[in-house]
Amino acid sequence: MKKRVGIEALAVAVPRRYVDIEDLARARGVDPAKFTAGLGAKEMAVNDPGEDSVSLAATAAARLIQQQGVDTSKLGMLVVGTETGVDHSKPIASHVHGLLKLPRGMRTFDSQHACYGGTAGLMAAVEWIASGAAAGRSALVVCTDIARYGLKTAGEPTQGGGAVALLVSETPDLLAVDVGLNGVSTADVYDFWRPVGRREALVDGHYSITCYLDAMAGAYRGWRERAMEQGLVRWDSKLPSEQLARILYHVPFCKMARKAHAQVRLCDLEDSGNGPATPEARDEAAKSQASYDAQVAKSLGLNARVGNVYTASLYLALAGQLHAEGAALAGQRIGLLSYGSGSCAEFYTGVVGEKAAERMARADLDTVLAKRERVSVEEYERLMNLPYDAPEAIAPEPGTFRLAEIHEFRRKYAGA
Ligand code: CAA
Repeated sequence: MKKRVGIEALAVAVPRRYVDIEDLARARGVDPAKFTAGLGAKEMAVNDPGEDSVSLAATAAARLIQQQGVDTSKLGMLVVGTETGVDHSKPIASHVHGLLKLPRGMRTFDSQHACYGGTAGLMAAVEWIASGAAAGRSALVVCTDIARYGLKTAGEPTQGGGAVALLVSETPDLLAVDVGLNGVSTADVYDFWRPVGRREALVDGHYSITCYLDAMAGAYRGWRERAMEQGLVRWDSKLPSEQLARILYHVPFCKMARKAHAQVRLCDLEDSGNGPATPEARDEAAKSQASYDAQVAKSLGLNARVGNVYTASLYLALAGQLHAEGAALAGQRIGLLSYGSGSCAEFYTGVVGEKAAERMARADLDTVLAKRERVSVEEYERLMNLPYDAPEAIAPEPGTFRLAEIHEFRRKYAGA
């Protein structure tokens, strides 16, 4: 029998402050409806230099270990997926490994490909375990990022930050991955990038949306072909994508998930052979509100309150989905679409575990978000203007890490 492999549990860490998206809109002289209805945002996480990608990753991983009682002696791999590296050479994974005092006998590395690095890391872990090479050991995969475009840019309302830590094992209580069915699509494009040394990302915003939709179409069709060969979906009165209980997307801003879902449906409608006859009718059917409400909307609760978290955005959607409907989805197959600019997209599926609701209750996501402090736009701007290498001297909250100082190019962390 094939091994069951996938995500056993997860934990989320977010910056301690956020700005209300309507406050930001008003400060920029923009109709708040553009950011709420137009982009789908409610709140946006705001980090200070002490909450860097390392401290967020270490906090999420420490939380996962503590909340779920993880036996760290059974870990054999630690992968950090990130766009927000802190060093050309030393990986965030080595910081996390040290801060958490993990066993020496582990493979540790970072995985970088814009917002796709986390999924690349997750698949490295899943396939390592599925191959048998892990010999019963588990993996930690941490997605951590700070999405930063800068003040008064078009991308400003789509910033955010945080980390999601995933425990990957042969006990996939949250999601048993359909190993080997993944569809992928790569293209060499300049849609979003951050040249070495730059703190803010560069982005060709509208083009990046086109690139995302184009790449995901290829990834989805690749998955669908394999899933059909295995009899998981078929051409039927229901579209193949409708045969998945839910579909979760990379969420740079919530409205993007709606556009992505319409694109998946369009792929099915174009390929089915007996869908609507005209392109206009297909577009209309692809945008079905009922399908979006049933398959996507409930996954976006956390993303709307945190903003973009690059590599972690898809896994924040998974957390939000299972937080909202973990019990109802037990035993059902869901789809996940990861997109990283540059670009690489991957579509994969998995079956929600019977213990998903129990595992998610331990993740205590309501408390994680409720502890945050709402700040004014003035305070957000002050935090954004702080130098990245001089963190304010703030004592870390219990159970969290903070960057304390950078001395002679060495980063020192406090807390947990
Ligand atoms: N009321 C309601 N809706 C309104 C409105 C109003 N008053 N004013 C505008 N809108 C709607 C618009 O119609 C539009 O909706 P549709 O896309 O459905 O037509 C939406 O609000 C946004 O309006 P604009 O397109 O005019 O907004 P913009 O040009 O200022 O920028 C953006 C939007 C391109 C997403 C920009 O925020 C950006 O560049 N963000 C960063 C890039 C990004 O997130 N790209 C996503 C794909 S790449 C990726 O996924 C990787 C990654 O993580 C970065």
